[in-house]
Amino acid sequence: MVAIVYAGLAMHINPPSNIEHIDPKTLHLTGEFTEPNLGTKVEANGQVTVRMVATQFAFVPQCLVVPEGKPVTLRFSTPDVLHGILVTGTNVNTMIVPGYVSQVHTVFRKTGDLLMPCHEYCGLGHSQMWATVRVVP
Ligand code: CUA
Repeated sequence: MVAIVYAGLAMHINPPSNIEHIDPKTLHLTGEFTEPNLGTKVEANGQVTVRMVATQFAFVPQCLVVPEGKPVTLRFSTPDVLHGILVTGTNVNTMIVPGYVSQVHTVFRKTGDLLMPCHEYCGLGHSQMWATVRVVP
């Protein structure tokens, strides 16, 4: 009985911060997660948005450059399986769930390089899956 309930919960996993759907099969072909849109963008209103795709077993792009001391919105999607990301020393920590966009708001307080490892087991290459966040003045 316990096992059945647990399986039911696991099937209805959702990202913690929002409910935005995206088709994992077409996210590389159309919409905001196509390759030219990835990385750091300053929107028309001055808002800084970062878009990243998590795949087995790499992040695209592998290095993000972000400004120090400004609000940054990070948006993630995946075409394959469940991943998780955190950025050491910040509040950035979220699951990346197939079928959803995961969004995190943060302000990077110090310049320098931060590690962004995948922290959800996603297959044989999991331990090699990480990116760098470079915070610049
Ligand atoms: Cu991706 Cu572990």
